[in-house]
Amino acid sequence: MSTPHIAAEPGDIAERILLPGDPLRAKFIAEHFLENAKQYTSIRNILGYTGTYKGVPVSVQGTGMGIPSISIYIHELIATYGVKKLFRVGTCGAMHKDVKLRDVLIAQAATTDSAILRNIFGPSINFAPIADYSLLERAVSNARRLSLPVKVGNIISVDRFYDEEIDNEKLTKYGILGVEMEAAALYTIAAQFHVQALAIFTASDHLLTGEGCTAEERQNTFCDMIRIALETAVET
Ligand code: HPA
Repeated sequence: MSTPHIAAEPGDIAERILLPGDPLRAKFIAEHFLENAKQYTSIRNILGYTGTYKGVPVSVQGTGMGIPSISIYIHELIATYGVKKLFRVGTCGAMHKDVKLRDVLIAQAATTDSAILRNIFGPSINFAPIADYSLLERAVSNARRLSLPVKVGNIISVDRFYDEEIDNEKLTKYGILGVEMEAAALYTIAAQFHVQALAIFTASDHLLTGEGCTAEERQNTFCDMIRIALETAVET
């Protein structure tokens, strides 16, 4: 059995999964963090692997960029393969003055300009896509235990990387910490299927200062974020 986008048999994918946008990051996580990782899919070069972390089965799967792409993978992972705990691990643009380059952010909620919410709920309801509370609480406590500082709050999932209309200053005034392109779909689809989801980010660039990470800096903080996600994924 295979879905249109994932070539795996039932049981090939663990109930706990990490979801980077970049398929090569999925490969990196499988090779550097998981034991006995085996690749289960390469359709469209979107790679997926299952291995173990501290003895617990964990998968890692690329999602591509943006809400339409991640929505396909999440839907199939949950509806066909029975995935129950989903962790987006990715980069975001820092928007807020309190967020520094390389900070790790956890999205308590994901504001969005995407039409997905209007399409699902109609024009009069503004659904609030939120993190699963128990995953959020555990991730924060694991970060503390590992002495890895994190910031927790609202982020925005935008539909376009290059836009001219979004008022970043206003969003920042209302406490939005960072910008990325997938978390609102993850939280909304997790709510639809009653499964748990959390999005964790590394600030790879800063919209206020124009700074960006070097490849090496990106890798190091990326690893902090992965450790937090994996430690949280394998609990209970
Ligand atoms: N915008 C949208 N998504 C992003 C950004 C950004 O500046 N940085 C990393 N992901």
